[in-house]
Amino acid sequence: MDILDIGKMRSTVRSYSERPLEQDKLDKILEAGRWAPTAVNYQPHRILVLNSEETLMKAKEFTDFGKPLNHSTHEKELLLSGNMNGKSAYHYNASTALLVCYDEEACWKHPENGESSGIVDAAIVTTHMMVEAAAIGVGSSWISYFNMEKAKNLLGLPENFKPVVLLLLGYPAEDARPDHEFTGKRMPVEKTVFYNSFQRIGVNDEGL
Ligand SMILES: Cc1cc2nc3c(=O)[nH]c(=O)nc-3n(C[C@H](O)[C@H](O)[C@H](O)COP(=O)(O)O)c2cc1C
Repeated sequence: MDILDIGKMRSTVRSYSERPLEQDKLDKILEAGRWAPTAVNYQPHRILVLNSEETLMKAKEFTDFGKPLNHSTHEKELLLSGNMNGKSAYHYNASTALLVCYDEEACWKHPENGESSGIVDAAIVTTHMMVEAAAIGVGSSWISYFNMEKAKNLLGLPENFKPVVLLLLGYPAEDARPDHEFTGKRMPVEKTVFYNSFQRIGVNDEGL
């Protein structure tokens, strides 16, 4: 399948079934991350696979803010209808979660401004894994909104490891449905792509 087709077909899964993710599928997803490009090929990403009962409980703790995400209408609906069934607000009951971190000491740093490439590298690795997951029929959610300090403490991360993304993986539950506020909606290309100058910004401002 063309990457563009996968991009159009993939959507964030915000409710997972009990079905565990098979090891061979997880291996493929991790392999896709391994082949992602990173600055100067330093490969500073460090991925913690959370798939034991103990570590998933910890993931529930550091993703649970006790209130619905502002932008997730699907989640708000679930909460209002009382159908969360004990699901943590941002964990969605996934059976596998990848905590994608970077090692601050292993990153490329911009020689002029000293900025670390860690977040960008971790994001590229995560994107490759998310796309591979979609290609092999595995659902995913990219979670940025979690308590990073709590994650570091609960999982005992080394001081120089910075968490960037929690990538949830698994199979959609029966009640899973796309968040219609976002899924399938993208701005027209003219809104985000400019040729040679940004001068016409604001001219065609129609939004989504
Ligand atoms: C950087 C980033 C951070 C995100 N953080 C969250 C999050 O914390 N919680 C969540 O439910 N979804 C999160 N998402 C998922 C987006 O809301 C989702 O990808 C977007 O609304 C488009 O919908 P789609 O993935 O179904 O196409 C995040 C996505 C990205 C790329």
